[in-house]
Amino acid sequence: MRNSFLLLAALTLSLWACDSKKSKNENTLASIKDTKVLQYAIEGKVLYENYCANCHQNDGKGLGKLIPPLYKSDYMNEDIGRTARIIKYGQIGEITVNGQLYNEKMPANGQLTNMDIARIMTYIYNIWGNNEGVIDANKIEYYLKGEH
Ligand code: HEC
Repeated sequence: MRNSFLLLAALTLSLWACDSKKSKNENTLASIKDTKVLQYAIEGKVLYENYCANCHQNDGKGLGKLIPPLYKSDYMNEDIGRTARIIKYGQIGEITVNGQLYNEKMPANGQLTNMDIARIMTYIYNIWGNNEGVIDANKIEYYLKGEH
């Protein structure tokens, strides 16, 4: 009786340890297995921290009703091309992200090259449970041309 209790306790503990490790990895480069994706994402993380994290935060969770989340954002995930255009040209006006209305202004990033945007997007689209693979500079060029 006592043994089976110990066994159960050990099992519960190891499951819990495994689970908390998984949710921690979801937010880091450690969750990326593909080396090409990783090459982009390592530099993408640095660029993200310089150009995006002031507002959207390192964990992508945004700031209350002023800054929408990127972490598990339905808006970001429904249209990859639009994200490229938002990064390059900025975003103004009403948008709804995960059921919350935002009506603020995100400044443009005209100084970022297609390669910079490619790295940032490869990073944010391959962490937080996302798995979109490499988003390269050619794709960014295509997205910036229009409504793709
Ligand atoms: C000065 C603050 C600021 C910075 C810096 C900034 N954003 Fe934003 N971002 C916003 C705001 C505010 C909105 C919502 C605009 C609106 O209400 O129309 C937004 C919206 C977005 C959206 C669409 C909504 C969503 O949450 O899915 C994406 C994607 C996004 N930003 C990505 C980025 C990325 C990537 C960077 C870095 C290159 C960045 N932003 C830099 C403030 C910022």
